[in-house]
Amino acid sequence: MKRPIIAGNWKMFKTPSEGSAFVDEVMKLVLDHEKVDVIFCPPFTALFNMKDAFESGKHFSLGAQNCHWEESGAFTGEISVGMLKDCRVQYVILGHSERRHIFHEPDEWINRKVHSVINGNMTPILCIGETLTQRDEGETEAILDKQLQLGLKGIDSLDNIVIAYEPVWAIGTGLTATPAQVSETHQQVRDILNQLYDTEAVENVAILYGGSVKPENAKELILTQGVDGFLIGGASLKVDSFTTIIENVELSI
Ligand code: PGA
Repeated sequence: MKRPIIAGNWKMFKTPSEGSAFVDEVMKLVLDHEKVDVIFCPPFTALFNMKDAFESGKHFSLGAQNCHWEESGAFTGEISVGMLKDCRVQYVILGHSERRHIFHEPDEWINRKVHSVINGNMTPILCIGETLTQRDEGETEAILDKQLQLGLKGIDSLDNIVIAYEPVWAIGTGLTATPAQVSETHQQVRDILNQLYDTEAVENVAILYGGSVKPENAKELILTQGVDGFLIGGASLKVDSFTTIIENVELSI
């Protein structure tokens, strides 16, 4: 099994001071859980405040939730890769379903962002996933295929990429995909990637699952075939639930 990645996507929660206090507390509690890579993805405003906590590297890293693809320019409200790098950001979540559905980000933008993040020597966490209607209509694989083909267009290596499979119907709803659905879909993702990259690269790429991951289902999900870690929303906001998930994952591997 690969080193599991547990990423917390805070979305639009926590001020800079709340974020720093939270990270300090979590780090103290899970300092010894060195078999798991933990990524905190706070809102932009908290990144600068939190960056010193990530000085030593170890198994903790800082991630952002979005970025713009240009280096600088007249893009009101946007943040560049260089700005994130200066805050010691190592990962950037791209193509999250909330960005796709609420902010109407097209695959073409997501692809440009993937390129910029990689060119900036950071790792994109490329999110993909189907809606409930698409699943019910048997379109899951076609949707994932489109999101992967377009999102990764022009990217010749998977070396510095993390994929997060997040069924839209499981995000923030309390509905979790069953282990059977998760393993089947993760296999579909690998099959699609196998058409684009060599087998070894596809075996090595981390594919996270996201969608209502919580302490109660973390053990079962981390042991599910094809799951290399989690992207967690709601349960990453509380010290208790986030640290319990990290502990449960470390105990299970
Ligand atoms: P959730 O969110 O864990 O609250 O379902 C997951 C995500 O949006 O990444």
